[in-house]
Order: sequence, then structure tokens, then C-alpha cells
Amino acid sequence: MIDQLYRKAVLTVAERPQVEKLARDKMWPLAQRFVAGENIQSAIGAVLELQKDGIQGNLDLLGEFIDSPAKCTEFAEQVLKLIDAAHAAGITPYVSIKLSSVGQGKPVPETEGGGEDLGLKNARRIVGKAKEYGGFVCLDMEDHTRVDITLQQFRTLVGEFGNAHVGTVLQAYLYRSLKDRESLDDLKPNIRMVKGAYLEPETVAYPDKADVDQNYRRLVYQHLKAGNYTNVATHDEKIIDDVKRFVLAHGIAKDQFEFQMLYGIRRDLQKSLAAEGYRVRAYIPYGRDWYAYFSRRIAETPRNAMFVAQGLLKG
Ligand code: FDA
Repeated sequence: MIDQLYRKAVLTVAERPQVEKLARDKMWPLAQRFVAGENIQSAIGAVLELQKDGIQGNLDLLGEFIDSPAKCTEFAEQVLKLIDAAHAAGITPYVSIKLSSVGQGKPVPETEGGGEDLGLKNARRIVGKAKEYGGFVCLDMEDHTRVDITLQQFRTLVGEFGNAHVGTVLQAYLYRSLKDRESLDDLKPNIRMVKGAYLEPETVAYPDKADVDQNYRRLVYQHLKAGNYTNVATHDEKIIDDVKRFVLAHGIAKDQFEFQMLYGIRRDLQKSLAAEGYRVRAYIPYGRDWYAYFSRRIAETPRNAMFVAQGLLKG
């Protein structure tokens, strides 16, 4: 409950336009701990650097609440460029996208043929391009109002490109996620399990962290037991230790799952897991639109708010 109140307080303040304006200038030097840079080259550089420690990258061009259909398609084109650039740098492209950024919920403009959802159309181009290079696209999960449409579009894309090239995310704070997981089993889906980062009402999400943690373990264990590839995306060391014990006890091979963490968070743990022979992947955000992402990281733990406060005082 306290975690929920803290998160709400930080996000409510951060979303005020006056705060954003002030914070953008002051905070960029600090945001760089969590954001790889503002352009493709810095993001690729971050992947190559992590690969030296046996850690793979998951590239994420930042962009939220992109409003016009033209901007959504422009954003999708930036992601296509990113995939080409990763391939050219010798990296198997692995990217994450938010379907809202590429037009989910908006019809394709009549001038371009109309009809279907623009997000699905753009996602299809992105997954198709990643598949060309043997790569992978994960459809990030946003707030609860987008879960139904995201899972439907995920199902469509797996049907078209196969489960080796597209995956999605389930959030342990949502009451519905266990059922959603089961309902996807026929696809043998590659799923990233997360606790959930948005401000959600009690009508749809567990307010208590202990319930979220318990549900998280259930989701991971059930997905592994069903024989599916599982991305254990958390920095929670207790959960990570439990998952290690679980896979050992159930004879689950190390190539059926991977640990995923965010760029700049628990780098020590990322390195030590990779050194133990586990697959590890860091989620590497980059781009000019870093503010909302950075605010969510601060909202996750008061330790990060302290990091920012100390940085600002020093500056
Ligand atoms: P929890 O918040 O319980 O933290 C456990 C411990 O980890 C803390 O005690 C602290 O030590 C450390 N820690 C956690 N967050 C930290 C931070 N920001 N800075 C420093 N230390 C921190 N969410 C979503 O809704 N949709 C999505 O698509 C994704 N995608 C995604 C991908 C990947 C790779 C990760 C790791 C996470 C996401 N998330 C997400 C975010 C996720 O929902 C969640 O908000 C964060 O991972 C924080 O939760 P933890 O599981 O780390 O546990």
C-alpha cells in the first residue's frame, strides 16, 4: 500500500507540465544512468558494451502518447531504421515496442487504404523486418485499458510470423493475468513477466506488493511448467533465487528462460547471473522522449529519488 502511495505521488507530480519542463533540462545528465542516449548509435554502443559481459540487449526507442497517425508511422519507421542499424552492427535485432506509439487504436488513414488498426499494420512491418534478420520484437504492455487489444494483436502477429519472432508481456499486478497466460498457451508464447509499472486502480490490480510478488511467482512457474520460453523480468533478488531453485527442481533447461533487467539497474546482478551461465538481457531505452520512462523508474523506488535529489544538489 505504501509502495502504491509513493508511486502515485511521484507520477502525479512528474506528469505536471511545469514540472516536466523544469525537469527535462536539469535531469538529462542523471537520466543517462537509465537511458542509453538520444540516438541509435549510442543505443547500439550500449549493446556492444554489455555483450562484453555476456549480456544481450533489448532495444527500446522511447516515445509515448504519440498522437497523430502520421507521427505513429514516422515512429515505426524509426524502429525499422533501428533494426537495420542493429543488423549492420552485427547484432541480432531484439527490440521492444509500445503498440500505442505505432498507432494502436487508430484506423489506418483512408488515403493509405483505411480499414485495419494502424498499430497492427505498423507492428507487422516491424516484426517482418526483425524476422528477416532472425530477430525478435516484444510488444510491451501498457496500462490495463490496452491489455485486450494488445493480446489480440499479439495473437494475430504470432499467427503471421511465428512465436520465435514476436512476444509480449504480462503484468503480475493485474488480477486477470493468470487467466490471460492460460488463454495464450496454445501459441506456446514467448512472454516477459513483469510486476507492472503503471498507476492502476484497485478494481483491476492488487494494491499490496506481497500479492503482486506472489502472483509474479505463479505466472513464471506456470509458464515454465507449460514448456514456454519465459523472460523473468525483475530486479527482485529473492524472486530470482526462487526461480533458480524452481528450474533446478523441475529440470528446466537454461535455454528455456532468461533473466531481464533494465539498463543501469542492478548491473552487478546482471553480470553475476551471466557469469553463472544464465541468459541475461538488459532492456536498453534510448531516444529524445526519455522523460516519462525516467519518471517511472523514480516512482519504483525511493532510492532512485534519492539518487536524483543528490545529483541535483551537486549540480
Ligand atoms: P520490485 O519493484 O519489487 O523491486 C525489487 C528490488 O529491485 C528493489 O528492492 C530494488 O532493490 C530493485 N529495483 C527495482 N526497481 C528499481 C529501480 N527502478 N531502480 C533501482 N533498483 C530497483 N512494466 C510494464 O508495466 N510493462 C512492461 O512492458 C514492462 N517491461 C519491462 C521490461 C523489463 C526488462 C523490466 C525489468 C521491467 C519492465 N517493466 C514493465 C517494469 C516492471 O513492471 C516493474 O515496474 C519494474 O521491473 C520494478 O519491479 P521489480 O520486478 O524489479 O521489483
